[in-house]
Amino acid sequence: MKYGHFSKDSLEYIITKPETPYPWINYLTNEAYCSVISQCAGGYSFYRDCRTNRVTRWHPEDYHCDRPGKYIFVRENKKAYSLTYQPLRVKPSHYVCHHGLGYTSIDAVNNGLKSNVTYFVPEKDHCEVWIATLTNQTKKIKKLEVFPYVEFLIGDYHEELRYRNIMNLYNLVKFDKKEKAIFAKKTAKWQGMNIQPFSSQIFFASSLKVDGACTQKEAFLGRYNSEEKPDAVLKENGFKNFPLCSGEDGIGSFKHTLTLKPGETKEFTVVLGQTEKMSDIKRILKNYKKVSYAKSELKKTEKIWQDRILDNIEIKTPDKDFDTMTNVWLKYQTYICNLWSRSPSFFHEGSGGRGYRDSCQDSEAIVSINPELTKQKIFKIASLIRRDGTSAPGWSETDGPHKFLPNKDHQIWLTTTVAAYVKETGDKSILSVKLSYLKDRWIKGWKIDSSWKGGAKEDGKGTLLEHIEANLTFCFNDVGEKGFPKIGHADWNDAIDAAGIKHKGESVWLAQALVRSLRILAELCDFIDDKKKKNKYLKMADVMDERVNKKGWDGDWYVRGFDDNGQVYGTKKDKEGKIYLNAQSWAVLAGIAKDDRLKKVLASVDKYLNGPHGLALFAPAYSSWVKRLGRISMFSEGTKENAAVFCHAATFMAVAYAMSGKGDKAYEAVKRIMPNKQENMELYRTEPYVFAEYLVGPQNPYRYGEGAFTWITGTAGWNFMAATEWILGVRREFNGLRIDPSIPRSWKKCFVRRPFRGSVYAIEIQNPKGKQSGVKKITVDGEKIEGNVLPIFADKKTHKVIVTLG
Ligand code: GLC
Repeated sequence: MKYGHFSKDSLEYIITKPETPYPWINYLTNEAYCSVISQCAGGYSFYRDCRTNRVTRWHPEDYHCDRPGKYIFVRENKKAYSLTYQPLRVKPSHYVCHHGLGYTSIDAVNNGLKSNVTYFVPEKDHCEVWIATLTNQTKKIKKLEVFPYVEFLIGDYHEELRYRNIMNLYNLVKFDKKEKAIFAKKTAKWQGMNIQPFSSQIFFASSLKVDGACTQKEAFLGRYNSEEKPDAVLKENGFKNFPLCSGEDGIGSFKHTLTLKPGETKEFTVVLGQTEKMSDIKRILKNYKKVSYAKSELKKTEKIWQDRILDNIEIKTPDKDFDTMTNVWLKYQTYICNLWSRSPSFFHEGSGGRGYRDSCQDSEAIVSINPELTKQKIFKIASLIRRDGTSAPGWSETDGPHKFLPNKDHQIWLTTTVAAYVKETGDKSILSVKLSYLKDRWIKGWKIDSSWKGGAKEDGKGTLLEHIEANLTFCFNDVGEKGFPKIGHADWNDAIDAAGIKHKGESVWLAQALVRSLRILAELCDFIDDKKKKNKYLKMADVMDERVNKKGWDGDWYVRGFDDNGQVYGTKKDKEGKIYLNAQSWAVLAGIAKDDRLKKVLASVDKYLNGPHGLALFAPAYSSWVKRLGRISMFSEGTKENAAVFCHAATFMAVAYAMSGKGDKAYEAVKRIMPNKQENMELYRTEPYVFAEYLVGPQNPYRYGEGAFTWITGTAGWNFMAATEWILGVRREFNGLRIDPSIPRSWKKCFVRRPFRGSVYAIEIQNPKGKQSGVKKITVDGEKIEGNVLPIFADKKTHKVIVTLG
């Protein structure tokens, strides 16, 4: 590939050219501190929440410039360069960036100085560490001036975007002589009139002897300059000591002098972090100023990430790219989504917090590799549910439950996550765990109680099962004239935001999703032997299923919904937005489309929505504002929800294909959006190692096929489930592991290693006749079994399973 390639073991993506078409990033993170970093060390850091606690700045308005970042400038003999190419952009004679699991490591050679800077975030400490190694490759002594540099943001990112002039006035950045560190904080945390002390402290230090410290941005850069031409680096004696920055743009920078003999190597560390207690800061500074300590923490971090990623499900198919994604990068991406949801990236709005539906899906997807994480998330998410079954739309670690209006689909997601957890672990006791309900100013999730004072409160407790029953029951009853759930100000599709503003519009997709969740809830009730509840929920599912088939069928596909005036959308009669993908895929996922309708749905999806870059969210795109639907129609054609190839939705369809036994199509749906299958990187542009939220859709005038909004997308989790559970078909059930592959005909042999309930299943799928699905025979440890569900052994042993399709 033009800009890089995976390492042999697939654990790194190695970038060989610094100017990739977009910044290609990595996340260095533990559960509290995160650094988002590009191939040239551009990016920002935050602590606990990417809105309320930004540590450093990055300019989203100029994201193609990818600045500022975590830089080390070097000056020698009037020459200057930076060790990560950016921001000086002096061409190094050698440059390679390794984005690995939990670290980013950048090699360069500039003017005969070989350098490596490795960035990582240790497992526990609230900081990031840069380990720099410099080697003099020339025959002459090198006298270097070295300047580590960051630009602080300090505090609330959104307030800063709006009130930069004011927010700067609270900045206080100081060089502390005793700790030989720069400390930065705001004089107070300001949010409206809710003024609080700034409870934590940002710190920045280096292990080298400090010959100067500068905390003022303008003093470092010089008048009218950017990071590309800083006076402090480019001018003789340009670096000036400014140990105090009060009420203006603050930076952290040091001056160090280093001498390197020919062939000599020197190492040093830089540490940047944010935390509450001074005693912790002192300990962190003392520890990480020792290169040996930093290196051993780096090793630990690498091991932790490798254990998380490698020590679980593993697949081997004839498609090496598919394996690389499934075995390594999809898991890694799913982890990052679980840790930071949909807020921090180079594309996203950075508003912090975690969304309800996104968190449900992320934690469902990770259950097969980390059920404990899923369990903790389930408890957290359930505590956002109100007694009436509605919920807060998400939460922030620093600000608590979100206060705004939730989308109408939130109710349907947690049930499937809970069922996945119970199937994965067999732990039905989780259903009777008592969890609190939430009470806040929302009545039935739609109206505001004007007498409500203060924030959210606890409202007694109920079992987890009661929480999800309340969820689905609310959704079942909150219906419009035609009997479909109301769409409110949006369902899964955030951008259909005007179809239900009068609280009348309905969503056929949501009806389908509800049917699926009700059927899953019935299975859960069956598993705990509550036949009464099982029958109740099955009946509710059947009622809604019938409605969808009666009033939601359009002749060749299902319609998407009805607006506030009862007018249908996603129908043949529409000139634009005729057919929506989700209304077809979920009809399959929910078991609503059967026989002839199933055939028609699959044929229509292929005919109207498929293309060389994958499945479009709907077709044709809207070319002008459709007032009755909302912003979906206003985005540029083919971008985001306006008929992009929305990868999350394309993956729903991949699962639907697999459920229908169409292995070739399921694989094709995934393959066309796989980042490492994109041949034309000048077109695709985004990272080849993580999925994008969408590829620009076919109706865009000139960008069809461009990747967008990478990393934090539900695509990651769903793709991991699609690959392992649906295409390879190794699927957890309450009473065992179902084997039901739906693979391309051309795959003659595949292998899945699946740890499950205390044993490992080493599964070989043989496909001598080139089928797409249909298990003919299964042997376990040499013995033929009936059916296609592997028994639970729970014996800590590995069991050899041979599956023959036929
Ligand atoms: C984004 C959101 C997701 C939403 C989707 C469609 O991916 O993260 O929650 O469902 O857009 O609007």
